[in-house]
Amino acid sequence: MRRIMTDIVMRERIARLKAERRAVILAHNYQIGPVQDIADFVGDSLELSRKAAAIEAETVVFCGVHFMAETAAILCPDKTVLLPDAGAGCPMADMITAEELRRWKTRYPGRKVVCYVNTSAEVKAESDICCTSANALQVVESLPDDEVLFVPDKNLAAFVARRSRKKIVAWDGYCYVHHHIHPADILSGKKAHPDAEVWAHPECRPEVLDLADKVLSTGQMVQEALRTDRREILIATETGIAHRLRKENPGKDFLPVKENALCANMKKITLPKVLSSMEKMKPRVSVPEDIRRRALGAIERMIRL
Ligand code: 13P
Ligand code: SF4
Repeated sequence: MRRIMTDIVMRERIARLKAERRAVILAHNYQIGPVQDIADFVGDSLELSRKAAAIEAETVVFCGVHFMAETAAILCPDKTVLLPDAGAGCPMADMITAEELRRWKTRYPGRKVVCYVNTSAEVKAESDICCTSANALQVVESLPDDEVLFVPDKNLAAFVARRSRKKIVAWDGYCYVHHHIHPADILSGKKAHPDAEVWAHPECRPEVLDLADKVLSTGQMVQEALRTDRREILIATETGIAHRLRKENPGKDFLPVKENALCANMKKITLPKVLSSMEKMKPRVSVPEDIRRRALGAIERMIRL
């Protein structure tokens, strides 16, 4: 009972600060339920950044991981962007640095670089165009070149390569949460739920995607959940998304194929940290102007498609 009261008080204080700070709270689809529930918008990485840019607010409280808050800071430099836990990074984004990318590019003169949105601002600044899990194929196909470089996710790159005639040279990065979902997890899910459809995120390994009925980004899962008549869906992605899918689709069952497919960094954001960041107006995320402008170029080229 005491804990429930504490949560209620916390939510009230957050609501008060939201008005005082002219703040908007954005939460990624993988955030814990209580954080999703206090957010003004819940969405995928790009939806949230675009929302941050479009909305009238002075402060954006970004409940997600660092590259997402950074993308918001790139798109709206006039707003204060808060990341309630400064240590909430993305291990996959950290698998390539700008220096590594600069060195890699020298081995492929003239090749264009497509960077996944899960990258640092510095890496985006070294890239020609950005992509998300929802539009990676479209972005690659939009380039006139027959061969492109793709960073950092080798699984997303493989997903695109199988659908494109272009040669994709991929960096050896991956998301540990999705990479640790194996074909055996899908097969045992199917055995237990033979009528279920299987949806997988394109960050999963190719052998897992081969067993899926649909390959969808988190934003596409949310849309497909509203559309589908299927009652049982096995999901191969971070389990946090099940909170939103279940909330928006009562009567449909969303079953994670791997209960421990958890992104430890996404889970670092909690209600007390959201409250504290709004009280102290930190930790802030900002990007030096020269890097911001170059990174913005890669993002805008994608948005224009
Ligand atoms: P989405 O862009 O599909 O939300 O994915 C972001 C992410 O980090 C997936 O692991
Ligand atoms: Fe990064 Fe994977 Fe976590 Fe997404 S789920 S933020 S790709 S570590």
